[in-house]
Amino acid sequence: MKKVSLTGDRPSGPLHIGHLFGSLLSRKETEIENESYVMVADVQALTDHFDQPEKIRENIYEITADNLAVGLNPEKTTFFIQSKIPQIAELTVFFSNLVTVNTLKRNPTVKTEIAEKKDLFGQEGESLTYGFLGYPVSQAADITIVRAEVVPVGSDQLPMIEQTREIVEKFHRTYPIKGNTFPLPIAKLSDAPKIIGLDGSAKMSKSLNNAIYLKDTPEKTAEKIKTAKTDSGSSIKELTDPNPSPSIYNLVRIYALIHNQKIIDAYKELDGMKYSPFKEKLAKDLNNYLSPIRERREELKPDYIKEVLDAGSKKVLKKAEETMALVKKAMRIDY
Ligand code: TRP
Repeated sequence: MKKVSLTGDRPSGPLHIGHLFGSLLSRKETEIENESYVMVADVQALTDHFDQPEKIRENIYEITADNLAVGLNPEKTTFFIQSKIPQIAELTVFFSNLVTVNTLKRNPTVKTEIAEKKDLFGQEGESLTYGFLGYPVSQAADITIVRAEVVPVGSDQLPMIEQTREIVEKFHRTYPIKGNTFPLPIAKLSDAPKIIGLDGSAKMSKSLNNAIYLKDTPEKTAEKIKTAKTDSGSSIKELTDPNPSPSIYNLVRIYALIHNQKIIDAYKELDGMKYSPFKEKLAKDLNNYLSPIRERREELKPDYIKEVLDAGSKKVLKKAEETMALVKKAMRIDY
């Protein structure tokens, strides 16, 4: 029996090579082995972009195009838009009774994000919204609305899956029925190492302007690599230092990933190479690697992307209705 798998992306910007190696490529395996769903999390994106709906609207298409360009098959992976499934919002309300505010405040991912968004939530989080604090509850509803068993994610999402499991267990204790309402979902961690930002900051991120996007032109990609942070050295040295320079390590790792090499072998191959020719080679090889993805992306028509999302949302709507019938029966509110 195929397992039900669900993951999601926030449409707050187009996807970059960190997403590619961290999750998009493994989705191709997931869609073969599972009943696979990829959700465009527009409602979640609104929790910290509530005043930028146009940006989210535009990026719904961008990130779906990124997924399709990588080679995901919409016959196998069901793509859908979160806001098209009102049952997710309904389930969020029922789940919200099963979570304490204190637990949400302690969620490590939420805590980090609040600290990062001082302009939005204030120096001490004094302007934190109810919606943002509660997004893990909504994420639990994303996962359970299709009764997902597996959730492929990066390690930053582990607290969300843990929160989902706690809600599911509490739901089952509070509203017991024979055979549980939901499966207890597990996280499936991607084994790809994390790529950091080209400016050396901890993550490649849309908001930090330190990312190479799948949709970037080859020229733009080369320019970004050319100006990427290095260190005070001038050439690549074999990997002997247990704490290598992170920005060089990151560039060599990108090189290793596109050549399907171990990082240590990439360092060996590049040993002695000056930074500037290395960057030129990396840009050329990365552009070659990305070229079929970019070509496919160019060919995708907005109408086709809309069709994929409409068909997927329709399919999920059916499943969501089934789930809510089970939920309401268990909760004894099936009047
Ligand atoms: N929180 C995820 C992120 O920021 C996106 C997301 C929303 C998600 N709903 C989900 C991931 C459900 C997995 C399952 O990347």
